[in-house]
Amino acid sequence: MLPGQAAAPAGPNDLTGMFVIHHAFRRDLRAFVAAVTGTPAGDTVSWRALHDRWRLFGTFLHHHHTTEDEAIWPLLLSRVDEAGRETLAAMEAEHHEIDPLLAACGDGFATLATHGDEDVRASLEVRMVAAAERLHRHLAHEETEALVLVQAHLTPAEWEVMEEKSAKGSYTFRELMALVPWIMYGLPVEAQRRLLKLAGPTLALLWRVNRRGFARREAATFRSAV
Ligand SMILES: [Fe+2]
Repeated sequence: MLPGQAAAPAGPNDLTGMFVIHHAFRRDLRAFVAAVTGTPAGDTVSWRALHDRWRLFGTFLHHHHTTEDEAIWPLLLSRVDEAGRETLAAMEAEHHEIDPLLAACGDGFATLATHGDEDVRASLEVRMVAAAERLHRHLAHEETEALVLVQAHLTPAEWEVMEEKSAKGSYTFRELMALVPWIMYGLPVEAQRRLLKLAGPTLALLWRVNRRGFARREAATFRSAV
């Protein structure tokens, strides 16, 4: 159980990879709400960095949801009962519900990255709070219901295939370098150790090489967060 996590369903599969990514989404949502609230509308340099960082968040979220919608939920669908099918349908519907909320936030960042406008900032704050609330609820729903189905119906061999698929995205070099520190940043030390042990030397190397730069950029991007 990581900070903010709603449940850790018991079963044969090691869901560490899923939980550390959910942790990163939750951490980002809190940081973005705080930054959108605290960053002065006229601080275009910060808004540019925030816009950039929001796109990185969007890339990782999109990849995560696509893996679930294309690989995990369909595999489960033929094995679950009626209640399970409803849960899986809800997962996909919630992904679609979240997309336009995130896109609306992206529009706000894009505007503020070009010029200061307090009305735009204030409306972005409202949108960001709503989008974060919706995504927090979705993550909790997934952890309390959908992952119960994963534990009940998928074998560890099948889950490993999912993990491999989820680790491979079509990322730019910059996104690829950011992925590991993005996952590790702010994780409790015990969870960092567990992940390093599970994931092996490539992840450890990417963490070592990129951790300081990532932390420096995070501090700069979110410097006005309240
Ligand atoms: Fe997930």
